Amino acid sequence: MQKLLVSLGERSYTIQVGSGLLAELGRLCSELALGSTAAIVTNPTVGKLYTATVRDTLEKAGYTIHLIEIPDGEVHKNSQTLNSIYDALLAAGLSRDSFLVALGGGVVGDMTGFAAATFLRGVPFVQVPTTLLAQVDSSVGGKTGINHPLGKNLIGAFYQPSLVLIDTATLTTLPEREYVSGLAEVLKYGVVCDRDFFTFIAENTERIRDRDKECLQDIIRISCALKASVVERDEREGGYRAVLNYGHTFAHAVERLTHYTDFLHGEAVAIGMVQAAKLSELMGYADRRDTKAIVDLLQSFGLPVDLVPFSRDEYFQALLKDKKKRAQGINFVFNKGIGDSIIENVSDWDFLLQVVSK
Ligand SMILES: NC(=O)c1ccc[n+]([C@@H]2O[C@H](COP(=O)([O-])OP(=O)(O)OC[C@H]3O[C@@H](n4cnc5c(N)ncnc54)[C@H](O)[C@@H]3O)[C@@H](O)[C@H]2O)c1
Ligand SMILES: [Zn+2]
Repeated sequence: MQKLLVSLGERSYTIQVGSGLLAELGRLCSELALGSTAAIVTNPTVGKLYTATVRDTLEKAGYTIHLIEIPDGEVHKNSQTLNSIYDALLAAGLSRDSFLVALGGGVVGDMTGFAAATFLRGVPFVQVPTTLLAQVDSSVGGKTGINHPLGKNLIGAFYQPSLVLIDTATLTTLPEREYVSGLAEVLKYGVVCDRDFFTFIAENTERIRDRDKECLQDIIRISCALKASVVERDEREGGYRAVLNYGHTFAHAVERLTHYTDFLHGEAVAIGMVQAAKLSELMGYADRRDTKAIVDLLQSFGLPVDLVPFSRDEYFQALLKDKKKRAQGINFVFNKGIGDSIIENVSDWDFLLQVVSK
């Protein structure tokens, strides 16, 4: 088991990474003195695989358990599902002496975190992420929330978990496409903040694709450490944390234009990273070899790299999203070579069009 600290003063917590860790959850919660009752929030897909183990370890540690199942899928990350969580918590009579356990991917994690932030003005919660994306990204850093009909993640709170427990063995059941999609975010960390990590990934593509146990543990631990150090510097995204949005402005435009149906998030991020790399090259922050290294690595994982042929105008509008952006410019994250990055505002639309039209 490997242990990392996210150092945020009184909101500090540990991330524990290892294979077979689910069974340790009860003991770890006891050590944190997390109250006497736990509500496990999960969905039917993850629930049938892992609820029994999680329930068992918590019961053995003396906790009273309530199980809350919410429907599977991003379309259910909304106020209706959130309300159903509140309803279940209230029906079970949970008091402030209780905590929530988010067992699942980013959808379960984001919603459970927001429920924990708001139920009885805040009860503790534990993240038990079971997708690669959730293990390397969404479970760490305290962004929680739900979607609104007008946009994704528009309602939410910064609310840190008390513990992040990453059992890498849960990835053995993750569908291939979901796994590969998560690799885009892993690679993103290498590109924006750690050249050695990028090289490590490039030298171990086979093992990573094969979900080699040891290698998985390494890439997840390093990704979490990198995310933690970014969050420690800028918890509420006043500035620097935005480097983690590398490729995301483009990715969000692609997701929007394909109505969130054609691509998984990581797949859209892969396409967006290539766009960001090309823009960085045009700005003189990186050269052709850097862009090629990024494209090659994404492709070696089977991730898409080519922009869908939208009309230039519709893509551009999707990038801008609203008129305010047109006036203020867009903050883009550029890679400086590989392993470093810079955030800069771009309001020269002619210049931007050079990239988006390629
Ligand atoms: N809070 C943050 O900082 C942050 C960061 C990035 C993304 N997100 C959010 O995360 C969400 C996406 O998360 P995701 O990619 O994990 O998607 P997800 O939660 O929808 O999970 C993907 C699918 O995999 C299934 N699944 C999960 N674990 C499994 C396992 N071990 N075995 C088999 N199937 C499993 C799920 O039931 C689901 O069908 C989005 O809503 C996004 O907004 C949040
Ligand atoms: Zn992302």
